[in-house]
Amino acid sequence: ATSARAQAAAFDFEPIGIATDHSIQVPSGHSWKTLVRFGDPLFSEAADAYSNETAVPAAMSDKVFGENTDGMEFFEIDGKTVITVNSEYANPEINLPAANEGTPKNADEVMLLKNIQGVTIMEVADTGNGYEVVVDSPFNRRITHETQMTMDGPAAGSALVRTNADPEGMSPKGTMNNCGSGKTLWGTYLTCEENFNGYFGTTTEKEPTDGEKRYGIGGQSRYAYEVYDERFDISKEPNEPHRHGWVTEIDPSDASSVPVKHTALGRFKHENAEMVQAADGRIVVYMGDDERGEFIYRYVSNATWAAGQPTEGLLSEGTLYVAKFNDDMTGEWLALTPETTGMSLEDLLVFSRLAGSKVGATTMDRPEWIAANPMKVEAYCALTNNSKRGGDKMPTNAANPRETNNYGQIVRWRPEGEDHAADTFTWDLYVMAGNPKVYQNEYAGSPNVTEGNMFNSPDGMAFDSKGMLWIQTDGEDSNEGEFEGQGNNQMLVGNPETGEIARFLTAPKGAEVTGLCWSGDGKVAFVGIQHPGGSWPDGAGLPRSSIIAVWRDDGQAIG
Ligand code: FEO
Ligand code: CA
Ligand code: CA
Ligand code: CA
Repeated sequence: ATSARAQAAAFDFEPIGIATDHSIQVPSGHSWKTLVRFGDPLFSEAADAYSNETAVPAAMSDKVFGENTDGMEFFEIDGKTVITVNSEYANPEINLPAANEGTPKNADEVMLLKNIQGVTIMEVADTGNGYEVVVDSPFNRRITHETQMTMDGPAAGSALVRTNADPEGMSPKGTMNNCGSGKTLWGTYLTCEENFNGYFGTTTEKEPTDGEKRYGIGGQSRYAYEVYDERFDISKEPNEPHRHGWVTEIDPSDASSVPVKHTALGRFKHENAEMVQAADGRIVVYMGDDERGEFIYRYVSNATWAAGQPTEGLLSEGTLYVAKFNDDMTGEWLALTPETTGMSLEDLLVFSRLAGSKVGATTMDRPEWIAANPMKVEAYCALTNNSKRGGDKMPTNAANPRETNNYGQIVRWRPEGEDHAADTFTWDLYVMAGNPKVYQNEYAGSPNVTEGNMFNSPDGMAFDSKGMLWIQTDGEDSNEGEFEGQGNNQMLVGNPETGEIARFLTAPKGAEVTGLCWSGDGKVAFVGIQHPGGSWPDGAGLPRSSIIAVWRDDGQAIG
């Protein structure tokens, strides 16, 4: 009886149906409003910068909230509240004149695109009318593709990361394609560099190296940066791409702090970075590499840590591992070292994907966010989908069991001995997304998927303080064919114990839901709405990626 009551109490809301509209839907008894929209001012000089016809002028582009909100974290610093949030990419069609057809035509337009991506750090305050951005707060800061950074760990300063502009290989500029996030146990922000390859091009044809091929460097660049800035031209600066694809740490308490790229955590298309502690106090970071057939990684520090102790070396001295999911539902973390890979330490960190292949890591269906359960020693990874799974090139395996996997699944692992530093684990699939309306076979999904809660393409994930798993989707929202009955992208809540999943929020059509954090008292959830369609949220003019606040009307904690 107790467990039935606990289960009933676990979802303290009435699940909602799908939506196909251009707005946000939340359960009855809940409300929402926008916290901040792309182009809203962080500084009063940018108060009138945004226009709903032409977006943001270049001169104000690093003084406003960035575009395409993604991972975010909530901090309480000296009695103030601060949210750090990624701006993953820019929409040239929204931000450049229509005649440009999506390509910058001069250096000013390139600068505009560089400035509206990266990271925003902003103080927020509950004004009595809900949370609002504190304009001109000394915490407010934009970190862009030009912000000066430093590097640490074994690959910092190595020949692979030296450029003409930085012959020491210690002073990279910019963090780009900031997708998921993480929070360190000592109160700093981790921003994760995902599809960095798309920013590099070449003005002179060259044969790609194995490393460039595996990371997709040398294809068409997305924003033509290389035409106006040699840093992004791989025929002139072949090592510049090696300075991106890292986990970067930012101290949100000091707007003059220099962000640090941690090479010990490996270079790949980082989704997020979920930090936990091993039984003995060592720091463990779980990380996904979001590309079809890429891997899940784990970093374990050499040193142990406890609150109040120095943090020096915790993210620069340690071992990187890659996951092998065996078909018998056991698994292993395979260390990436010079001995196991035959590569130098610098090489195996800069080209982690090549190292992972050498040791026999399991190819996964696009590892997106990883979330660790605060109530027990286990972690979950959203495997968003993989249209290319199947056949000889990427055969199915037990953790990625469906060919042409358009729905995705969430894999969960439990470390041996309840210790995140253990080198073995057991695993299962928490949910196989699917469509029981269209299919009666494995594409219908696992038993915890019903016509009432179905979804595709799980991506963002985070646990709340009560131990519920929140799941955000970035999928196909046509509501047709294979996706009939799934509606717009959405946010659901999963009970890790019972497997029960309930729909909590639906996004405006066209948008994905990504990024989630809570106010310190758990009463407000901040949710990111990326690439909305229509004219959301203003109702007229250009669409604006935004963060919304969601709360319960009765003032209780949300969830
Ligand atoms: Fe930027 Fe893998 O999502
Ligand atoms: Ca994502
Ligand atoms: Ca996305
Ligand atoms: Ca995604």
